[in-house]
Amino acid sequence: MKKTVPDLVRSTDNLVMVTAYDYPGGQQAERAGVDMILVGDSLGNVVLGYESTAQVTMEDIIHHARAVRRGAPDTFLVADMPFGSFQTGVTDALRSAVRLVKEAGADAVKLEGGEEVEDITRALTRVGIPVMGHVGLRPQTAVAQGGLKVQGRTVEDALAVLAGARSAERAGAFAVVLEAIPSRLAELVTSRLRVPTVGIGAGPHCRGQVLVWHDLLGVFEGEEKKLARRYAELGRDATRALRAYAEEVRGGQFPTQEHGFLMKSDVLRALRRELGDDATDTDADADLAELQKLY
Ligand code: KIV
Repeated sequence: MKKTVPDLVRSTDNLVMVTAYDYPGGQQAERAGVDMILVGDSLGNVVLGYESTAQVTMEDIIHHARAVRRGAPDTFLVADMPFGSFQTGVTDALRSAVRLVKEAGADAVKLEGGEEVEDITRALTRVGIPVMGHVGLRPQTAVAQGGLKVQGRTVEDALAVLAGARSAERAGAFAVVLEAIPSRLAELVTSRLRVPTVGIGAGPHCRGQVLVWHDLLGVFEGEEKKLARRYAELGRDATRALRAYAEEVRGGQFPTQEHGFLMKSDVLRALRRELGDDATDTDADADLAELQKLY
């Protein structure tokens, strides 16, 4: 059964969240029983091949979130607010969030930022749109943060992460993502919030964890990211399978008779007559023999 915001906030179990971007992904995540699915703007990096998540548009998120929703009708779905969809003010943010709920079927939205987005989080939660905050590394504005690197390593930066998380909670966020911060800082932040923290690259002390689909399932071959554990090697297996397919097509081992469809021999004979094809009826007889075996 789909979790509600109070279920998630009160949960004493570790919350499980994974990103997904399409219909089969939604189905698989739902069958696996995760608590929440995130249609993250990581979509830009791992599915659309953009250079940065800042390029992701509302249309991208809506298109993919709708597909995930069709695959996972009974799982709590969070859609990311892409860069540019909320920074231009509260009215734009409300309009974007309403679209994610109405058009994409999201149960909640996620919003990157600390105290500077408090008014936006408050406005959304006031009209009943659940918000998940996101502090620590914020990939949409990573350039301003000095690149995609661990945040909160100095006292000043650590205090800013805590202030951002507190601000999200104060404004009504039901949970806060902590991305790429030291584990001890994540522990301190988690112990100071009533709402759950959901970590990625933030160690084991958060109340939930989120991983990107492609990292978790090894879709891209190569080195494992430090913040993720790979539970499968889909990229390697897919390349192997595609190679085997290519070899078999080239070598004539695929397809075989069993992958094809039969034609009744009288139809085949009539067709050949029509085409003036004077081939013998050997193939038609073979098809007839196959049909007799089947029916
Ligand atoms: O876009 C995303 O996938 C995210 C997660 C990494 C939390 O924001």
